[in-house]
Amino acid sequence: MVRTTGSPAGGEETSGASTGGRDRLGWLREARLGMFIHWGLYSMPARHEWVKHAERLDDAAYDTYFEHFDPDLFDPEVWADHAARAGMKYVVITTKHHEGFCLWDSALTDYKATRAPAGRDLLRPMIEAFRAEGLRIGLYHSLLDWHHPEFPIDGMHPQRDDAGAIAAAKGRDVSKYADYLHGQVEELLTQFGRIDYMWFDFSYRQRVWGGKGRQDWRSEELLARVRELQPDVVVNDRLDVPGDVTTPEEYQPAAPMAGDDGLWEACQTLNGSWGYDRDNLNWKSPDMIVRMLVDGVSKGGNLLLNVGPNARGRLEPRAVPVLEAIGEWMTLHGRSIYRAGPSEFVPPADCRFTQRDDRLYVHLFAWPLGHLHLRGLAGKVRYAQLLHDGSEIRMQVIDPHEQAQNTKLGGVGEGTLTLTLPIQRPAVAVPVIELFLRQVR
Ligand code: GLC
Repeated sequence: MVRTTGSPAGGEETSGASTGGRDRLGWLREARLGMFIHWGLYSMPARHEWVKHAERLDDAAYDTYFEHFDPDLFDPEVWADHAARAGMKYVVITTKHHEGFCLWDSALTDYKATRAPAGRDLLRPMIEAFRAEGLRIGLYHSLLDWHHPEFPIDGMHPQRDDAGAIAAAKGRDVSKYADYLHGQVEELLTQFGRIDYMWFDFSYRQRVWGGKGRQDWRSEELLARVRELQPDVVVNDRLDVPGDVTTPEEYQPAAPMAGDDGLWEACQTLNGSWGYDRDNLNWKSPDMIVRMLVDGVSKGGNLLLNVGPNARGRLEPRAVPVLEAIGEWMTLHGRSIYRAGPSEFVPPADCRFTQRDDRLYVHLFAWPLGHLHLRGLAGKVRYAQLLHDGSEIRMQVIDPHEQAQNTKLGGVGEGTLTLTLPIQRPAVAVPVIELFLRQVR
């Protein structure tokens, strides 16, 4: 398998200089595919990262995971290698999830990996390993904190139904928690070199009683500080103030989404759980994930695909073949994804178009019998080939006014380009035909 490290195939590395504005998103738009990593104490119960909420576990019960968290098989270079071989160009790593446990050696809390049996900073080795593979670095940081003593209990909190806990928490001051939140973001943006993407999660002002948003997080102040510390960093849209990227989650948008420059990124799990979920059988197939990636790029979006490593520090075995299958497809078809985006041409049924400069890519989600008819492309294509093996695809323009006769083709509209396809569908997750356009639209 060819490793696709370095800048996206055919893509120009976005300059390191502070450019702000549209250029700030350039690398992310080119990258198209990233790895999301959800890893924390919740990997021990292995029942989804919201286990503390779902099972209403209090700190005393949840501390058992803190007291036993010892990922002795943790090797981030293995994870980074899988990501690079899967064709992923950036990573987003959970620094702290809603449980409040920090993977790095924060000076602001003892609820961190260096104080657990793990006994070391787990974030820095991940950043270094992924950076060494040429991936851009994103940090996920939860705005919620179900462990912090000043985080007010609300309708999302594990103790949301515990009258005693609610009464005892009456005096909590969310502004003191916000100071902590801002202080930790400061640590993350000053201690780990260039950070390319801050992925905050999440605001819920009107969803539950005591819901929190921009006032609670002091989002405007936080965002200004983020931009001051790392002017080129991309910020997502979950601070309850406008961000750089729209982040639909666990669904495929039916059309291009709004957002600055129209860039959006669908974050998706492999099985419906972000954190390791041992007994979960709801796994998406590699073919489905490749179709999700293609579908998203055809609408101007990225795919941030999640893995949930287990408590020993290993990618779960079921994730590895999926990543390898995606890597196989990306090795052969990466140039239809990297730096590619929507086309003004309209694809036929069961197909998606992605376009990059004078190359138009036809992604066939179904394999038709013998021919593919491309309306509006007659006279616009100088050559066509199957992308996976570079084999020619013959083209013809059928005169719509000629009488169809027996096996002589008819019934195609004016201006249609007809491709002749092999009967056998190519043995790849999604076959792609590369069209060389005569001129870029
Ligand atoms: C939701 C979930 C959170 C997960 C995030 C990933 O916000 O609450 O657990 O980390 O989605 O996008």
